[in-house]
Amino acid sequence: MHQVKLAENIYYLGFNDRRTHLFENIWPIPYGISYNSYLIVDEKIALVDTVERQFIDDYIGRIEAIIGNRQVDYLVINHMEPDHSGALKAIMAHYPGITLVGNKKTFGFVESFYATPANIYEVNDNSTLSLGKTKLQFQTIPMVHWPETMVSYEETNKILFSGDAFGSYGTLDGGVFDDEINLGFYEVEVMRYFTNIVGKYCPHTQRAISKLAPLDIKMIAATHGPIWRSDLNWVLSRYNKWSSYDTEKGVVIVYGSMYGNTQKMAEAIARQLSVRGIKNIRVYDASKTHSSYIINDIFKYKGFIVGSCAYNNALFPNVETLLSTIEHMAPKNHYLGIFGNFSWNGGGVKNLMVFAEKIKWELVAPPVEEKGSLKEACYNECIGLADAMAEKLLNE
Ligand code: FEO
Repeated sequence: MHQVKLAENIYYLGFNDRRTHLFENIWPIPYGISYNSYLIVDEKIALVDTVERQFIDDYIGRIEAIIGNRQVDYLVINHMEPDHSGALKAIMAHYPGITLVGNKKTFGFVESFYATPANIYEVNDNSTLSLGKTKLQFQTIPMVHWPETMVSYEETNKILFSGDAFGSYGTLDGGVFDDEINLGFYEVEVMRYFTNIVGKYCPHTQRAISKLAPLDIKMIAATHGPIWRSDLNWVLSRYNKWSSYDTEKGVVIVYGSMYGNTQKMAEAIARQLSVRGIKNIRVYDASKTHSSYIINDIFKYKGFIVGSCAYNNALFPNVETLLSTIEHMAPKNHYLGIFGNFSWNGGGVKNLMVFAEKIKWELVAPPVEEKGSLKEACYNECIGLADAMAEKLLNE
């Protein structure tokens, strides 16, 4: 069987998942995802992370195809989320002498998810593990994106096994390394993976980037997506930008509309933004587009304008769900605009203002609200809202 190698004695053992619709049962993965595990063969043999449990049989088969009946000595656990630890129990059963390598928090999760491990090797920052001529060094990167997350640095080939950090949605369709694929395809999927999964922890990601900066890294092998070896800056610079909330001049407009009146307000605002010279404008119907994509664009663009019709005197439910996700992710450094529509007593705009108070983004203009169909006075207020947003963005 064809083997993919990162170095003479280091193998890629990943699997492509094209069946799962929702990653973490939340986030759409129309292009699938890969679960990447790695095998280091030396005087001692080590696995770095495992794979999702559906692949257990093939996973063990691929390990045996490389090492035959030799035993795996160590399982390095950079991250305990079950998409990577899913095969842990099977590996422990298959290789009963195996030693689990992790930090104090790792073993707490191993115990709560699976079982008390027989053999452990507890590591912390700068701890090392020698496998023969191969030496691993460990650094914790807490909350990128779980408490126990750490990375393992292989000193000979200068490979960073980075866990979820620098990972991507999207299966590896033949090409595994960044120089074997068209990165244009992964551009959105790398960012969506970051914003959906890691984005809540931007300050922690910044701390991790600083902590890893002294390492001389030639290759980054994450637990999802391509292995980076030809242009590490491609992914490093993007992670640095996104995790520092460095947004571009642009506006995301999201609306919830039952019969089109709130949508008409969104269209008027979008057109005026364009007239004022804003080129990056994305308009989304909250009932149609999954928050995964909207959150992604909110991380990308500085302006956010949200509109809701009233629904039973409250927010339109799909807008409410989106706003709850935004509050959860809490991206910073945005300008905010608010608009809405009602038929009876309102409820949309009133509750959008509650969101504004909580998220603490700068409100660029008073909220705009219409009763029933969009009429001239309110249309002009929509234009005023767009002008205020455009001026904020253009004057930066
Ligand atoms: Fe890919 Fe956080 O697991």
